[in-house]
Amino acid sequence: MRRVGMGIVGIGFAGSLHVEAVRRLGFVDVVAVASSSLESAQRKADEYCIPKAYGNYDALVSDPAVQVVHNTTPNHLHSAVNMAAIGRHKHIVCDKPLAITSSDARTVWRAAEAAEVVHAVIFNYRGNPCVQQARHMITRGELGPPHFVHGEYLQDWLLDPTDYSWRLEPDKGGVSSALGDIGSHWCDLAQHVTGLRIESVLADLTTVVKTRYRPTRTSETFSSAARDLPSQPVEIKSEDLASVLVRFENGVKGTFCVGQICAGHKNGLWIEVSGRERSLRWHQEQQNELWLGSRHRANEVLARDPALLDESVRGYAHLPGGHQEGWNDALTNVFRDIYARVIDGSRPASPLVATFEEGYRANCLVEAMLASHAAGNVWTRVQY
Ligand SMILES: NC(=O)c1ccc[n+]([C@@H]2O[C@H](COP(=O)([O-])OP(=O)(O)OC[C@H]3O[C@@H](n4cnc5c(N)ncnc54)[C@H](O)[C@@H]3O)[C@@H](O)[C@H]2O)c1
Repeated sequence: MRRVGMGIVGIGFAGSLHVEAVRRLGFVDVVAVASSSLESAQRKADEYCIPKAYGNYDALVSDPAVQVVHNTTPNHLHSAVNMAAIGRHKHIVCDKPLAITSSDARTVWRAAEAAEVVHAVIFNYRGNPCVQQARHMITRGELGPPHFVHGEYLQDWLLDPTDYSWRLEPDKGGVSSALGDIGSHWCDLAQHVTGLRIESVLADLTTVVKTRYRPTRTSETFSSAARDLPSQPVEIKSEDLASVLVRFENGVKGTFCVGQICAGHKNGLWIEVSGRERSLRWHQEQQNELWLGSRHRANEVLARDPALLDESVRGYAHLPGGHQEGWNDALTNVFRDIYARVIDGSRPASPLVATFEEGYRANCLVEAMLASHAAGNVWTRVQY
C-alpha cells in the first residue's frame, strides 16, 4: 500500500489525538507540524517525533510531502487554514466546527468540492461501533418508528470562575460556547443515528459563570498549566448551559441539554431514541454498551462484541467482547475511512465521515439555536 504524508496545524488537546490516531493506521507518516511560531512548532515536533516544523500554516500546506492537512487549531483559524490547504489541492481534515459562521463554512465547503479534494469534519462519536450498531438497528426498524430523541452532553471543566478557554472568547471560539462546542456533537449524533435532519429548534441559553479570570498566558484545553498565573476578570457573554427542544424532518420530537458547568460530569454525552416498540440508549462514558428498553419484556444491555454486532458494523470493533475500546479507537475508525478515500477516491463515502457539507449544516443548526434564544425562546427554522 502506498504511504501518505500528513501535516498537522496546531497540536493541542485534539491535535495530539489526531497524531496518535493516524499513526495507528500504519501507512500514514506525520511529516510536518505548524504552530503559531517556529519555536512552538519545533517543541511539538520534538515531543511527537515529527520530522519538520513550520512557524506558519502556509509553509506547511505548501510542503509537497504533505498530502493531507489536519486542522486542529482554535476555531477562528479553521476557515483560513482550510482555504489555504484547499488552495494547494491538499485533502483536508478539520476538527469541528468547520468555521465560526455558517457563511464561512459554506465558502469552505464549496471550495473543497470545487477542488475535488477529500474533505472531512470530525464528529468522532460516529466512529464508535455501538453508535454504528444503533444506527443500523434504527435504520432496519428494530425500534419501530422513532417518536422521541433525547439526551444531554454535560461536562464540568468550566465550572470554576478560574477555568478559562479560548472557547469563551467569541472572536476565537465563535458566538456560542457550549452549543457550538458540544451541542454540535449531540446534534450530529442524533441526526446520524436516526437518519433524520433537525428542522426547527427552540433554545434557552444561560451564562452561569458570568465573570471569569483570564490568565496572562492561555494554556491548551484541559491543561492546568495556566491556573496559577496572574489573571484578569473578564465578562463572559457566551452560554455555558442550554436546554433545547428540537423537531426532526418527519415530525419526530426531541430535546437535549448541554452544560460545561455541571459538577461531576466529565464527558457525559448520551442519546436515547424511543420508537413505538423499543428504546435504545448509548452513553459515551459506557461506550461499549447499548441499552435496549422494552415494555413487554426485560430490558437488555448489548455489550460490544464483534460476534454480536451486525456484519456491516463488525469491522469497527477491533477487540473481542469484554476488552474495552474507547474514545481514540472511535477516532481511529473515522480516520481509517477518511484515508481509505484518500488512497482510493472511487470508494463509496463512509457514514462515519462527516463531509464539509455536514460541517456547514452543523454551523446552521447552532446559529438557529442562538437566533431562537435571541428572539425570546421561539421556535426557529434552521436555515440550511
Ligand atoms: N472532536 C472533538 O471531540 C474535539 C475535542 C477537542 C477539540 N476539538 C476541536 O479541536 C480544535 C482545537 O481544540 P483543542 O481543544 O485541541 O485546543 P487547544 O487549545 O488545546 O489546542 C490548539 C492548538 O493550536 C495552536 N495554535 C494557536 N494558534 C495557532 C496558529 N496560528 N497556527 C498553528 N497553531 C496554532 C495552539 O498553540 C494549541 O497548541 C477546536 O476547533 C475544537 O473544537 C474537537
